[in-house]
This record gives sequence, structure tokens and C-alpha cells, in this order.
Amino acid sequence: MSLHESQKRVLSGMRPTGRLHLGHYHGVLKNWVKLQHEYDCMFFVADWHALTTHYEDPGQIEEHVWTMVIDWLAAGVNPGSASLFIQSRVPEHAELHLLLSMMTPLSWLERVPSYKDQQAKLNERDLATYGFLGYPLLQSADILIYKAGHVPVGADQVPHVEMTREIARRFNHLYGKQSGFEQQAEEAIKKLGRKSGAIYRELRKEFLEKGSQESLEKAQAILREQSNISLGDRDRLYGYLEGGGKIILPEPQSLLTDSPVMPGLDGQKMSKSYNNTIALREAPALVEQKIKTMTTDPARVRRTDPGDPNKCPVFKLHEVYSAESTRDWVRQGCTTAGIGCIDCKRPLIDAVLEEQKPMRERARQYEENPDLVKSIVAEGCEKARNVAKATLEDVRAAMGLDYR
Ligand code: TRP
Ligand code: SF4
Repeated sequence: MSLHESQKRVLSGMRPTGRLHLGHYHGVLKNWVKLQHEYDCMFFVADWHALTTHYEDPGQIEEHVWTMVIDWLAAGVNPGSASLFIQSRVPEHAELHLLLSMMTPLSWLERVPSYKDQQAKLNERDLATYGFLGYPLLQSADILIYKAGHVPVGADQVPHVEMTREIARRFNHLYGKQSGFEQQAEEAIKKLGRKSGAIYRELRKEFLEKGSQESLEKAQAILREQSNISLGDRDRLYGYLEGGGKIILPEPQSLLTDSPVMPGLDGQKMSKSYNNTIALREAPALVEQKIKTMTTDPARVRRTDPGDPNKCPVFKLHEVYSAESTRDWVRQGCTTAGIGCIDCKRPLIDAVLEEQKPMRERARQYEENPDLVKSIVAEGCEKARNVAKATLEDVRAAMGLDYR
């Protein structure tokens, strides 16, 4: 795969946590569903990542894996558009992790914010382990093995993608300068033809000497349009442009999902640890019950007491689910005691049930047919492995490990 093509690849992973909730749907899955039409998407279950924190109780992982994949499918992730796979079924991730670990400074791992944060937060677990320290590097391997251009993540994961960029840069710097690189690059320029070759040289000079971003982009565009050079030459010339060696592992970018925080039943962020969730495949009766028993503005003791929607968790959900006209109706009715809280909750219950309806239907066919889920994942694993194997061959060759 050429560098240019890799820029169209999106990769993301999720730890197998079991049943997903509407916070996952609004925060992550809706975005995946959108991206699958625009990019070559690969989504995987990060089961090894689960072990970095839960190595003592791996027993639930298997069940969580399948439940989560069904939730993805229920949310509308389409196996025809995106590849779905399981990390541990692509052992190449582990070899790349090992090779990268050789050149990763310890201090890079120690300064990743989640390292100390999570150790403090999960203080009932012993996380003074090698695996836990190395987990951001395993994530780097997950990303780099597919040469992904974009990685959709939440804000907490941005430092991991940032470190991945540094790892890729360091790798390319160390191993991209094979002997004779410069000479090969010069040969490749000749293949661009006299005119394009001269423009390439000129733009490269402007970038290297003056840092002109515009020249860099123009030169990249020229390479993109060339149909008569090999992939190897093209990658060589991309690398040569920026002064360094061949780019073996391209630097990914994070695609920040800027969805607002999804409120839970108590008005805090929806999260399993707050026990305030509505599951993606929650039974309708339970959805109704959960919303009906939500606490409201404490000022509304009696039906005749006026309230303030800004002090009410129910209104936060209206902000996600209701149209402006409904919200006006709530504001007006609440502050004048014109409506009761049960009235107020009705359109919300309906909206959540409506949103879940297609998800429940899609989920049903997979729940009834687990083999279908397994075959979707088997297909995704096979595709992932093919890509991963090819990258690993490049990596081994760059490191001089391709002897037989
Ligand atoms: N670390 C991520 C999380 O805890 C999951 C993850 C693992 C991931 N590998 C990844 C996300 C690669 C994006 C890309 O949520
Ligand atoms: Fe909350 Fe609606 Fe009751 Fe007002 S009417 S307190 S917004 S539930």
C-alpha cells in the first residue's frame, strides 16, 4: 500500500467492556458509522489491552468481546464497509510491539498522562507491571501496523496518538536511511521525467531551506499524480522530500470526536462506574422505568411547584434528544408548573425508544445467529492479518531482520 492510500485508512479500537451504553453510541459509534462511508475503516476489539489492567480476571473477556461486537453491529457498523476484528487474532501486533519496544525510550512511556492517572484511579489493582507501562506502545503498534492515516479517539487518548507519531518518526529516522538511500532517491527523481523532476527538486529545496509548507504539499501532490513510478519509489520520494529517509511507518493523526458529553440518568457523564447508564440494547420497559424514576429539579416537590430545567438532569437529555420546539415546551411548562415531570419525560422516552428500535432489530438477527457474528469477525481478522503481515515484512527488512 502506498503512503497516499494509507492516509485514507481509519483505525480504532475499543476494550471489551461488555454491554455498551448510549454514551458509547453518541460518543463513538455514531462517528464510526459515519466514517465507514468516507474511509477504509478497520475497527478492532482490543482484548490484549483489557489484560493490561484486568490480568487477574480474564474470565469475562470472551463474553465481553462478542457482546461488544454485536453492539457495534447493532449501532450500524456495517461489515460490508468496515473490517471488524480481534486484536489477539492478529499476532503481528505483538511482534511489532516487541520490535518497537527496542527503540522506545522509557521516559516516553513514563510521561504518558494515563500512566500515572490510571494507576491512581485504579488503585485497588497492582498496575506496577511491564504490560501496563507498555500499553501505549502496544496501541502504537496497533495503529502503525495498518499504516493508518487517521485514528478516531476521545481526548484522553490523544497523547497516545501523539506518542505514536514520535515512535514512527524515530523508527523512520533510525531505519529509513538504508545505505544508498540518497542515490536511490535521485534515481527515482529521474523517473519522474525531466519537467516533473525539476519541479520536485525545486519544491523540495524550498521546503528544506525555507520550511515552505505550501511547497511540501505541492510536491506531495506531484507524487500523488505520478502513475509511472513504483510504490517503493513513491514512498522513497515522499521521505526524501522531508529530508529524511524512506517513510516506512507513516505518522497517524488523531480524529478527535467532538461530540458533547453524553449525560447519564443522574446528570453526570454517562458511565458504567456511575451506574447511570441506558444500555444500547436496553429492554424497552427498562428504558421507560429508568427515565420515569430519574430525579428532577428538587424544587418541584408538588406538581404545582414551578421548576428550573437548568437544574434538572432530564433536561440535559432533552438537549440531546429533543427538537427546539419540544425544549421550548419544556422550558415554558416547567417554569410555570404547566406540565408535570411525567409529561416532560414522555417525549424523551419515546425518542430514546425510537433511536433504539433499529438497533434492537439489527441486534436480534445477530443474537439469534452467533455464527454470523463469528464469520464477520473471521473475515475481518483475515483482512487485517494480510495488511499486518505486509507491514511487518517492511519493518523486518528495514531493521535487517529479513535473513533466512
Ligand atoms: N487504548 C484505547 C482505549 O483504552 C483502545 C485502543 C487500543 C485503541 N488500541 C487502539 C484506540 C488503537 C485507537 C487505536 O480506549
Ligand atoms: Fe425536569 Fe422536566 Fe420536571 Fe422540569 S418538568 S423538573 S425539566 S423533568
